[in-house]
Amino acid sequence: METQSEVYDVVGIGFGPSNLSLAVALEEHQSKGNGNPISAAFFERQPALGWHRNMLLPSAKMQISFLKDLSTFRNPASQFSFIAYLHAAGRLAQFVNNQDFFPTRQEFHDYLEWAESSFSDRVTYSSEVTSIRLPQAAGEQPVDHVQVEVRDTSSRGTRLVRARNIVVSTGLVPRMPVGIDRDERIWHSSEFLEKFRKLDHGQVKKVAVVGAGQSAAEIVRFVYDTIPGASVSAIMPSYGYSIADDTPFANKIFDADAVDDYYNGTERSKDSFWRYHKNTNYGVVDDEVIRDLHQRAYDDEVRGTPRLNFLNLSRVDSVKQTGDDVRLTLHSVRNDETYHLDVDVLICATGYDSMEPTEMLGELESHCLRDEQGRFRVERDYRLATGPGVHCGVYLQGGTEHTHGLASSLLSNIAIRSGEIADSIAERRTPRQFSTA
Ligand code: FDA
Ligand code: NAP
Repeated sequence: METQSEVYDVVGIGFGPSNLSLAVALEEHQSKGNGNPISAAFFERQPALGWHRNMLLPSAKMQISFLKDLSTFRNPASQFSFIAYLHAAGRLAQFVNNQDFFPTRQEFHDYLEWAESSFSDRVTYSSEVTSIRLPQAAGEQPVDHVQVEVRDTSSRGTRLVRARNIVVSTGLVPRMPVGIDRDERIWHSSEFLEKFRKLDHGQVKKVAVVGAGQSAAEIVRFVYDTIPGASVSAIMPSYGYSIADDTPFANKIFDADAVDDYYNGTERSKDSFWRYHKNTNYGVVDDEVIRDLHQRAYDDEVRGTPRLNFLNLSRVDSVKQTGDDVRLTLHSVRNDETYHLDVDVLICATGYDSMEPTEMLGELESHCLRDEQGRFRVERDYRLATGPGVHCGVYLQGGTEHTHGLASSLLSNIAIRSGEIADSIAERRTPRQFSTA
């Protein structure tokens, strides 16, 4: 274990869009001449910036407007906006002529890499944060910094850095159906492209995709288009794919004001957000993908060569490997019967759990306050409420669905949220804090 003398005002854990947006916010906070510099270091376990790379399917589009980028909603004049990127890439006019608010995920990824290139001096890649420790000599003194343990994923070496504030932004956690484990022929959608590229496509005749959300629908379309010799079974609990509601009134739940409405609301109002508007995001599919899939099924029917098999009102109960096949046991609620399906490859597009930092917080966790339901208490500025012995800041980007609402794991609000976190860190500085690193 190498102990570093480095101490940072902010250590960001994970460097996806949320903490990249924080890096932008801190930079812009500084350039406005707001007080002493805030030193920041970010640790990311991937070898380079990657935004859900295994789902970068060629025709997949963004689910939010390009204006909900890293910075525009906080600072429309930002040099890190999507418009600034288009300008730098020489594509601004073509983008406007294209008349589409929703770029492809591949173009947005390119934008994120372009923005990241201004911050690479602050990020260490192939570096996984494994735990947070309290300083050894804390004793009766309030804790004003923590030690962040970072493991180098290539050399396996470990180092400790000190942080006066940490911002945890480690993203969604892939969820498999209970009792089903991943292996070479059973994948979660989050590993899709990496596994798909290794497949001998000539040998694949039967593929099943579980789920009725955006990931499932995009994968069904992609596999159907990419392996012309394969039949694709789409296993879904609903009667058919349901549309993601992105109509104007419903979309307001992703506005910055809606965070206040949610945060300050009663338990009943919070429940209403979820009950009436879950269909903006979870288990739903964009109109364009639904129509594409139906068109393909219809064209197959006209040709008399059906390759798409929609197994609706069904859930996967269990999976067994039998020789070369993966045998699924499905349960249909149509007739309450169980039936089997044999496939070469099974892809579980069965969603994600929210970010849950308990394990990572390690020794610090016992100082974090919980509500009556055992969930973290989170202040409006995304700072975990901590006991009197802790003065350092622990901020969350993600995992705050219970306090801040539906946009917690999404991109919609990252520009504003990052600005609020940057402001909070700066405003809470004490005279002892913010000596430069
Ligand atoms: P994100 O998951 O992107 O980044 C977290 C980072 O932390 C990762 O790079 C990970 O490697 C790293 N990490 C994890 N643990 C670590 C550790 N211990 N140490 C160091 N690093 C660690 N939302 C939306 O609003 N519009 C959209 O179009 C989409 N599209 C979309 C597509 C797909 C395929 C998925 C699965 C999800 C979306 N989303 C979305 C939702 C998605 O959560 C959102 O786009 C961002 O990924 C959120 O950014 P974060 O930085 O919070 O998490
Ligand atoms: P999701 O929306 O949570 O959908 C998961 C689906 O799997 C649900 O329909 C769920 O049904 C079903 N499911 C779970 N267990 C099952 C089982 N045992 N048998 C059958 N079905 C089962 O997950 P997602 O599609 O991965 O989407 C996650 C997030 O990523 C969303 O925010 C989405 O918008 C985003 N995304 C965006 C893009 C893009 O930008 N182009 C692409 C992909 C994903 P139940 O709810 O009934 O369990």
